[in-house]
Amino acid sequence: MDQIQLQKLDTTVLKWLDQVHHLVEQCVQQRMQVDTKSSHRDLVTNVDREVEQYYVQHIRNFDPEAKILGEEGFGDAVKSMKGRIWFVDPIDGTMNFVKQQAEFATMVAVYEDGEPVMAWIMDVQQHDIIHGGPEYGVFHNGEKLELSVDIGLDEGLVILSGARLLYEEPGFPQLAKAAIGYRVYGSAGISYLHVLTGKAVAYLSRMRPWDFAAGVTLAKSLGLRVGTIDEQPMNMLVSGSVLVATDKAYADIMALLQKKS
Ligand code: IPD
Ligand code: CA
Ligand code: CA
Ligand code: CA
Repeated sequence: MDQIQLQKLDTTVLKWLDQVHHLVEQCVQQRMQVDTKSSHRDLVTNVDREVEQYYVQHIRNFDPEAKILGEEGFGDAVKSMKGRIWFVDPIDGTMNFVKQQAEFATMVAVYEDGEPVMAWIMDVQQHDIIHGGPEYGVFHNGEKLELSVDIGLDEGLVILSGARLLYEEPGFPQLAKAAIGYRVYGSAGISYLHVLTGKAVAYLSRMRPWDFAAGVTLAKSLGLRVGTIDEQPMNMLVSGSVLVATDKAYADIMALLQKKS
């Protein structure tokens, strides 16, 4: 895509994010319907569904040829990365959304033939948005975002998945001990915002494609390191362990994980 097309794409999705912000604010004032999915800790609300339906309807009008991979199932069954794919996580951090009405995000990413094009992450309650892509640059609420100083685990916070820590997935407890401090936010989107803005040096979790598509796009575009920790290439269509980090933290973490067994 050329700069004019990227600019149009960005402007369009930023308008949708404003609408999603309003939609969520309205829904919060009404009675929410909360259901469970795979377990009593895996929540979904009418807002997750309504926001995903909003995105799907607008993406279909704007980009009818594209396929949509969304968490709540209103998109398509995507089997290949050929063509244009939109990744949609309507509400990321649904537990935080239900229990705190804060610290939750909405995430959208566009890929073309397997390559990242653009992505958007919004802290919905704060209306705080990071958006951009490899050929476009990364912006924080419209201001160009620059890569923060490269610091390692001895000086920086690492963000981890609570479940991975609790169940002591190999490497995770060691990492929490090695860093100057560790944090668990309960939202991949909020975690990515902290790494992208230099408030943390790394985020590591095992996630599904809509959880990591926007984060890895923005991290790569900004010049952060992105990879997996199980020596597998990143597959955009299946769950996997995804690490986003500063160069120094990435090296620290890989060295530590190689020593773990
Ligand atoms: C979840 C959150 C959480 C992460 C889980 C995700 P959801 O997303 O991002 O932080 O640890 O792996 O599933 O279900 O609230 O969109
Ligand atoms: Ca969910
Ligand atoms: Ca998610
Ligand atoms: Ca979600």
